[in-house]
Amino acid sequence: MKVSKEIEQLIPYKPGKSIAATKSEYGLSEVYKLASNESPVGTSPKVLSAVSDALSNLHRYPDPNSTELKDLISKQTEVSPNEIVIGNGSNELIDLLIRTFCQAEDKILTSASAFIAYKICAKAAGVKVIETALTDKMEYDIPALVSELQVSHFKIVFVANPNNPTGTYVPESEILKLLEATKDMDDTLVVLDEAYNDFVRAKDFPNSIALIKKYKQLVILKTLSKVFAIAGLRLGYIIADEKVCDYVNRIRNPFNVNSLAQAAGLAALQDTEFLKKARDVNWGGLDYFYGELEKIGVTYWESQANFVLIDTKMDSGAVFEALLKMGVITRPVKAYGLPTHLRISVGKESENIIAMDALKKVLNELSNNN
Ligand SMILES: Cc1ncc(COP(=O)(O)O)c(C=O)c1O
Repeated sequence: MKVSKEIEQLIPYKPGKSIAATKSEYGLSEVYKLASNESPVGTSPKVLSAVSDALSNLHRYPDPNSTELKDLISKQTEVSPNEIVIGNGSNELIDLLIRTFCQAEDKILTSASAFIAYKICAKAAGVKVIETALTDKMEYDIPALVSELQVSHFKIVFVANPNNPTGTYVPESEILKLLEATKDMDDTLVVLDEAYNDFVRAKDFPNSIALIKKYKQLVILKTLSKVFAIAGLRLGYIIADEKVCDYVNRIRNPFNVNSLAQAAGLAALQDTEFLKKARDVNWGGLDYFYGELEKIGVTYWESQANFVLIDTKMDSGAVFEALLKMGVITRPVKAYGLPTHLRISVGKESENIIAMDALKKVLNELSNNN
């Protein structure tokens, strides 16, 4: 069997290590997974009850248009249902956007150390990826992106805002510069991937939905895997110009979103109490991490998401392994070009304490050995 050169060379996405695999490999009874930016507060009881009600209809195909879900999002965001596409997780939508608008040899633009799915999906489709370097504050360099756009044609610009794995964000003033620079390019989309926007505390974070009417090239990408806590069911959506949505819908599999995910999404998006709790737990966890990291002098970047990136100043693979032996799963981010960095997701309060205690011990031991 032969595949394209791009698929042959593709390094597949490496998910966070599972609790079950870690328990069996290291003979541990307790393992704490702070590796995949999942919700530490479990799933909302309202979502569980909606999913349980939907179970009696599993013999039916799901609504191919996710009508109720689109109507709800339309009401909440004041965009038309025709400006929404629902996906089987936002990862599917990244793939669909690339496959809809790019042909082999076209180019997409993003930053180094941006969410890796842009690169994987593009390469699989034979699409070239150009990355600008991060700034010295580990942020997207918007002037550098604009310079690239002035000299070359890109079909899509992907901005993860906030970005995974850095946790940094692009403020509204910078996003506006990017949108102004692309507004007269009739063949370039700007995707703002807002997987983590509900965790943002920065006051100058853009209100992207308010920008959608003015900038037709803008595509907003959302997920229900993070603050809404239904990663296991897979649900995400895009908000974009009707024409963009129409094209994406032409290649979307008709039953891409299963009926349990649709029911869960409807309940999750309306559960404001759960949303508040999830944010409070996250912010408490982040502040605790910052305090502990400062005490031990570990470099970190203030995060607008549900994880923190640290620089261990040594091979992060060794730190990751040593933490695994203590039952704490974190995420080394070498694949993002950051060989000494680790990403640690916010967990439950007790898990955060265990993780920071373990990190202190491990860094101490490893630096004494060097
Ligand atoms: C920035 C970003 N975008 C998109 C996704 C994909 O989310 P999902 O496919 O679960 O909706 C993730 C997942 O971690 C992410 O970090």
